[in-house]
Amino acid sequence: TKAPLRIAVSGAAGQICYSLLFRIAAGDLFGADRPVALHLLDLPQAQNAVRGVVMELEDCAFPLLSDVAVTDDPNAAFRDVDAALLVGSRPRSKGMERRDLLSANAEIFKTQGAALDANAKREAKVLVVGNPANTNAFILAESAPNFPRDNIASMIRLDHNRAQGQLAAKAGVGVGEIEKLVVWGNHSPTMFADWTFATANGRPLNETISDEAWYRETLIPKVAQRGSAIIEARDASSAASAANAAIDHLRDWMLGSDGRWVSMGLSSIGAYGIPEGLYCGVPATCTAGSIERIEDLKIDEFQRRMIDRTVAELVEERDAVRALLA
Ligand code: NAI
Repeated sequence: TKAPLRIAVSGAAGQICYSLLFRIAAGDLFGADRPVALHLLDLPQAQNAVRGVVMELEDCAFPLLSDVAVTDDPNAAFRDVDAALLVGSRPRSKGMERRDLLSANAEIFKTQGAALDANAKREAKVLVVGNPANTNAFILAESAPNFPRDNIASMIRLDHNRAQGQLAAKAGVGVGEIEKLVVWGNHSPTMFADWTFATANGRPLNETISDEAWYRETLIPKVAQRGSAIIEARDASSAASAANAAIDHLRDWMLGSDGRWVSMGLSSIGAYGIPEGLYCGVPATCTAGSIERIEDLKIDEFQRRMIDRTVAELVEERDAVRALLA
């Protein structure tokens, strides 16, 4: 049998991980012939809860799960891993200002960036899920100067999948038939779900649906506010769908996307007027282990305005945390 792939997962006692860990252990990430080992990271006060999750993992008797380690030390968590899913972060508590939230998370990702730099293999793939995901990925990269920036990404795949679902329903096609969809920008309500290049069965979606008002006034805001709608309905934030998106993102990255466009939060190289180094949702394709950015799309005036708006928010977040990096 093949050697297990080692995956660090932070926030292991949280609700996303309560779905994510079981799916990874079941083989949803790397397929039914690849054993996995989990390095579970959470805060000292959550160690007991993590041990409970480990008991449940044992009770599933997953044939692919080779071993599970539990720690509160990011250095131990990142040692020898092939991938890391950084889900744990500080949630916004009552009365907490956005600025305080950014700085609390900046501290976490600064520490984890240093641990990543000191311990992880340079080829490990790191996906930041914990919010504010884009800015957390930025801090992580800035705090891990010797770790390849392109091996860090932030998750915007949940928004991509949400848009895909809505578009397929409207067009009356299967979700798998939707291609070349892009979600640009920040994983926040400023994100831009863009159908300009999207097709269903190879036919332009904006011709199939042919309802520009629906696109601008319903689809785009609906995708942007889907997270709030779920909190409203469930009294808890999206968890299983977030776990699913993390698996989609990491699987496409490590195994390849088969020519399909995916949206990923990547460190900008300056394309589309996005400032260099900013982690921003952009279109890409993947071949096993590497990402090819799609850089040559022609952007119209509406797209320009929508991209500029979400990028401006990312710049603001970056500037708010920059002082903490000094
Ligand atoms: P949760 O609150 O249920 O769990 C978070 C876990 O992280 C807790 O067990 C907590 O102890 C742990 N944690 C906190 N600080 C940590 C640290 N420094 N190191 C290790 N672990 C730490 O939250 P949930 O629902 O699992 O969500 C996790 C994060 O994912 C949140 O920030 C949420 O906003 C974000 N999220 C991101 C999405 C995206 O599309 N990018 C989608 C949905 C959620």
